Amino acid sequence: MKERVFVTRSIPDAGLRLIQEGCDADIWDGELPPSYDALRQKVRGVAGIVSLVTDRIDAGIMAAAGPQIKVISQMAVGVDNIDVAAARARGILIGHTPGVLTEATADLAFGLLLAAARRIVEAVDYIHAGKWQTWGPKTLLGADLNGATLGIIGLGRIGQAMARRAVGFNMRVLAYSPTTSADVAAAVNAALVSLDQLLRESDFVSIHTPLTSQTQHLINQDTLALMKPAAILINTARGGIIDQAALYDALRDGVIGAAALDVTDPEPLPRNEPLLTLPNAIIVPHIGSASVRTRDAMAFIAAQNLLAGLAGEPLPHPLP
Ligand code: DGY
Repeated sequence: MKERVFVTRSIPDAGLRLIQEGCDADIWDGELPPSYDALRQKVRGVAGIVSLVTDRIDAGIMAAAGPQIKVISQMAVGVDNIDVAAARARGILIGHTPGVLTEATADLAFGLLLAAARRIVEAVDYIHAGKWQTWGPKTLLGADLNGATLGIIGLGRIGQAMARRAVGFNMRVLAYSPTTSADVAAAVNAALVSLDQLLRESDFVSIHTPLTSQTQHLINQDTLALMKPAAILINTARGGIIDQAALYDALRDGVIGAAALDVTDPEPLPRNEPLLTLPNAIIVPHIGSASVRTRDAMAFIAAQNLLAGLAGEPLPHPLP
């Protein structure tokens, strides 16, 4: 008999088909994620859950599922929405999707860097607002990448991919990454430095570290104050790493030059979020891994992890 699983949204066919073939799958078909209460109902008696970054999978959800649950397969690399300790205490395996979204996420981070440096969103708005009268010698001037310094916070897979892109644009690369060896940094032409040095010397700062209790609000009023007045901050990791109220003040008061964010806290941002009123803040809706090929690969790995966990086999991509 096939095992029962709950899939919290309709994921790409590359994974969904495998799940439907191998399991008795209940798939949430809403455009929006299930509410916490709906999730608690839906997981009752399942052997596996396929979750997304939008689902809070805490001890309450695991308890509601029941003692038979074997595996939580997250279709994402980040798992800060899952209470990992609670899962481990119950012997529930956790799978995630590292590697396959590295390049897509670094592409978006670099795209945001370019968009903020060259004020692309402001330039588009300028045309739509009917302001384009002529070529202006001082119109919409931005920042050069050539010769500038990029500071990367978190030199893991995505941080390294970001460094490789920066080298192609002739940038100097600094990295703050306490668990990374100098060899790994040297392989992508990055110099390991302290967070203070990185913030003081970088023209662009890009965040690529997971959200943990150590990185929550790592970028705050004090650390923003260390940055250059024209510096541009990019975040494609998790919104909670930045104290958003402090960022708003810093952007409004010229403490830093601009920010480009793929992730915010909360998500989605309320329509009245102050950051949305600033011309020097570019915000996109958590689309770092949103390419067709990448999402197919993530769905496929999520299905593989799920099926392995149900079969009592080692997960191909377990959470380390
Ligand atoms: C992840 O994988 O953690 C991203 O944030 C969603 O693709």
